Amino acid sequence: MKRTPFDLLVVFLAIIPLHFASSETLPSTSSTKCHEQERSALLEFKQSFFDAKSSICQSYGHQHKLESWKLADRDCCDWEGVDCDEGTGYVTGLDLSETCLSGPINSKASLFRLTHLQSLNLAWNDFNYSQIPSAIGDLVELLSLNLSSSTFEGQIPSQVLKLTNLTSLDLSHNHGLELRNPSMETLVQFLTKLEHLDLSWLNVSAPVPDAVANLSSLTSLKLCGCYLQGTFSTTIFELPRLQFLDLGKNPELSSHLPEFRLGSTIKSLSLGRTNISGNIPSSIGNLTQLTMLDFGHNKLSGEIPSSLGKLVQLSYLGLEMNLLSGEIPASLTNLTNLTFLYLNDNQLTGQIPAEITSLTRLTYLDLSFNKLTGPIPENISNLESLDFLNLESNNLNGTLRLDVILKLQHLGTLVLSSNEFSSIIEPGMNASLPNLAILGLASSNLSELPIFLSYQSMLVWLDLSQNRIYGPTPPWFLNVTMSQLFFLNLSRNSITGFTAFKWLNLVTLDLRFNDIQGLIPIPPKSIRSYLVSNNKLSGEISLEMCQLSFIRMLDLSKNKLYGVIPPCLSNLSDGLFVLSLHGNDLYGRFPQLQNDVCGLRMIDVSDNQLQGSLPRGLANCSNLEFLNIENNQIVDIFPSWMGSLSYLKVLILHSNRFHGAIGEPEAHEQFPNLQIVDLSMNNFSGSLPSEYFDMWSAMKDHNADDVDYMSFYTAFGGGTEYDYSMTIINKGILMKYERILGYLNVIDLSSNNFIGEISNSIGSLTKLHMLNLSNNALTGSIPLSLANLTRLESLDLSSNKLSGVIPLALAQLDFLAFFNVSDNHLSGPIPQVNQFHTFENDSYGGNLGLCGVPLTKKCRNLVEAPPTPPFGAFAEEIDWKIVLMGFGSGLVIGVVIGLNTTSKIERRFLRFYRGWQQRRMHQIRFV
Ligand SMILES: *[C@@H]1O[C@H](CO)[C@@H](O)[C@H](O)[C@H]1NC(C)=O
Ligand SMILES: *[C@@H]1O[C@H](CO)[C@@H](O)[C@H](O)[C@H]1NC(C)=O
Ligand SMILES: *[C@@H]1O[C@H](CO)[C@@H](O)[C@H](O)[C@H]1NC(C)=O
Ligand SMILES: *[C@@H]1O[C@H](CO)[C@@H](O)[C@H](O)[C@H]1NC(C)=O
Ligand SMILES: *[C@@H]1O[C@H](CO)[C@@H](O)[C@H](O)[C@H]1NC(C)=O
Ligand SMILES: *[C@@H]1O[C@H](CO)[C@@H](O)[C@H](O)[C@H]1NC(C)=O
Repeated sequence: MKRTPFDLLVVFLAIIPLHFASSETLPSTSSTKCHEQERSALLEFKQSFFDAKSSICQSYGHQHKLESWKLADRDCCDWEGVDCDEGTGYVTGLDLSETCLSGPINSKASLFRLTHLQSLNLAWNDFNYSQIPSAIGDLVELLSLNLSSSTFEGQIPSQVLKLTNLTSLDLSHNHGLELRNPSMETLVQFLTKLEHLDLSWLNVSAPVPDAVANLSSLTSLKLCGCYLQGTFSTTIFELPRLQFLDLGKNPELSSHLPEFRLGSTIKSLSLGRTNISGNIPSSIGNLTQLTMLDFGHNKLSGEIPSSLGKLVQLSYLGLEMNLLSGEIPASLTNLTNLTFLYLNDNQLTGQIPAEITSLTRLTYLDLSFNKLTGPIPENISNLESLDFLNLESNNLNGTLRLDVILKLQHLGTLVLSSNEFSSIIEPGMNASLPNLAILGLASSNLSELPIFLSYQSMLVWLDLSQNRIYGPTPPWFLNVTMSQLFFLNLSRNSITGFTAFKWLNLVTLDLRFNDIQGLIPIPPKSIRSYLVSNNKLSGEISLEMCQLSFIRMLDLSKNKLYGVIPPCLSNLSDGLFVLSLHGNDLYGRFPQLQNDVCGLRMIDVSDNQLQGSLPRGLANCSNLEFLNIENNQIVDIFPSWMGSLSYLKVLILHSNRFHGAIGEPEAHEQFPNLQIVDLSMNNFSGSLPSEYFDMWSAMKDHNADDVDYMSFYTAFGGGTEYDYSMTIINKGILMKYERILGYLNVIDLSSNNFIGEISNSIGSLTKLHMLNLSNNALTGSIPLSLANLTRLESLDLSSNKLSGVIPLALAQLDFLAFFNVSDNHLSGPIPQVNQFHTFENDSYGGNLGLCGVPLTKKCRNLVEAPPTPPFGAFAEEIDWKIVLMGFGSGLVIGVVIGLNTTSKIERRFLRFYRGWQQRRMHQIRFV
């Protein structure tokens, strides 16, 4: 930390009185209990560590405790945070939690002279990644030690094992702290009197030791998020006094739930976010003392046992994110003390039990992402305490009675998106409504903006996407929650007009897939994600767009914009991540990128009339993943200068005026991450870029495939996920990929003037799904190495000058569903194995020398006799269509899922928001 002269002065002034004090004769008072050497140890400790200017102090701001420690005060036993023994006057208790202590500590610290300490609390300070000093072991009388959240790091010293009288040990929330040598096992073998042990959020990295089961006094064991491994012994549950058990957030900890015995003292059981599988045993109903049960985010399956209904003291029940199935047991409606009920993200079926409305203490009810059917219970308005109601993504049907639900005066979050409601009854004009912060009514069959919104002044997040809202937005809507709203999603409606924006804090605005006409509405300056693609916007891109200095995502694609791209737009390139201008009528040059720093990850200017060359400034976009400029009139040579863009995955130059030979790579590593390269329909000449094939290592990598779609996600502003999309030729057909699977690999060099042979090195690109070299002037034979491309689904070599035979080895390509070698100079028999004879005439035509099915020309002599299958396994017929559906390259899934792009966004944000609220409430109630 930098010290200013002023700080030094403070330190200097603070030191002087201390020296002065030792020589001064202080007034003696008969009531003094405090020992002078302990008093000076305390003052010295304050001196060394108290820092009101430290960042920890700035963030917590609790410094008053130590300010009461004054030199002039003789009796340190009166100081705040200090406890002394009545008889001996020794300091036995020291609570210095949240007192702005800052800086590295070691065994010389004066604190360790207080050898009569029985209780020491240094939590919520900042010891600047020191190790816990080994002198801690000198405080042998300690019964209670709390060093949580104080930025300790490194191995916990073995001297801690000397503190055998400890009944309470809290070392939690010191992320770099390690308990390996001594291990947790040794620790619990020595400290056998422990009643409270909290090792959450430090690094244990071991199984839960069986010896824990010998800690017969243990009432509270918290091992949350400390990298526990293996399986845990269920004898823990039999500890006679255990009340609080938290093993949550240890994803490597696996287990099944044991049978639970009657008579258990457990009140709080947190096993969320571990790796527990199997059923919830019906004996859970024996844990009758439970007030808190968290089994969320596991792999539990089977039904929710109705015996849970016996746990009448429960106030928190979390079974979210599991694989449960079956109906919500009616017995749960007996849990009248429930405040939190999370059953979301399971496979629950049946109706929401009407009696759930008797749980009048419920504040959080989350049943989202299940398969629940039927209506929302009529008496939902009995749940008067409800603050959070999420029923999103179920199959709930009937009339959505918003008039009833909005009687819940405490409701802050209401998400009912993606159900099957047939109609909506809105609250009446004079109804008294709750102040909602979050409202999700996506895919709810709305035909207009609900008028009750005009009385909502606290909304921050509003999702009305995928409805049938039509026409221009009414003037009153622009007045809604002007100051608060930061997320607005109106995508996939039929909105025609959207002109003024009054929301001064709007961060995310999604208007995609509407019928908005006229000029581009200019969003407020606060905007970060502005998505307005697939509308009917016309006119030029206004220069005002260049003023949006916070913008991170700008999608104006699929509109009727014309004119040049304003050069000033490139001023935004350092902050902008996503820029899509695809599918407009823009002409002129691609703007030169003015900035040295370019943060762009995704650029799509395809399907316009852009001219000139590619701006060399793109080479500064070192995070670029996706560049699509297809269907423009760019005149340039191959952009070998982009080879250093090490994140570039997709490069589509299709149908422009690129020309010349591609030539040799400029360095050893070029385009290392490239997965999709489409140079088709240009004027490239010379030989195929075989040296590049050697370098495109992402296409050969044997690392795990990325099964996510290629996208850009920002959690900021309510969360926006932006899927990359493209149109390429697959299996001979032009196909639109609304989403691109993260492991798709494609090379399309078709319709150029490439000459020469296809190098064998192409066989090293083993992850390729599609290879198109058609419409060139390639000569030589079909390389045998193509048989190594075991994922190949589409191979097009048509309209070249290839000669020789079709290698029989290609029949090993299990997934090959499209094969075209027509219009070449090939000869010999068509392999009569596997899928080869199922391809049509078109696959083989225009090769005078080829013979056999499906061609009419028969193979006559021995040389032309159809080869027999060399591998027995392949002789069986395979239904290629089914194989395709199952594997595919994401197309089938892509198109279908692409229609529903918002659900994941909502899920993520809600997770975040919910998690945050949940944690907060959790702390208040249970910690
Ligand atoms: C531990 O506690 C016991 C009983 O209270 C006491 O006799 C013993 O002296 C303590 N041990 C230490 C090292 O203080
Ligand atoms: C625990 O619950 C199960 C199932 O509900 C029951 O069969 C068993 O007898 C109970 N065990 C004890 C010890 O009460
Ligand atoms: C419900 O909780 C209250 C306190 O919040 C408690 O007094 C009451 O006994 C509980 N009811 C049941 C059935 O456990
Ligand atoms: C609810 O509790 C009552 C009384 O304890 C009991 O009789 C009833 O069977 C329970 N209901 C369900 C559905 O378990
Ligand atoms: C709701 O769905 C269920 C089952 O899917 C069906 O039986 C019922 O008739 C539907 N109700 C309405 C009001 O559409
Ligand atoms: C919008 O708010 C302004 C200022 O509060 C008010 O003058 C105007 O009438 C409101 N417009 C509508 C349509 O409610």
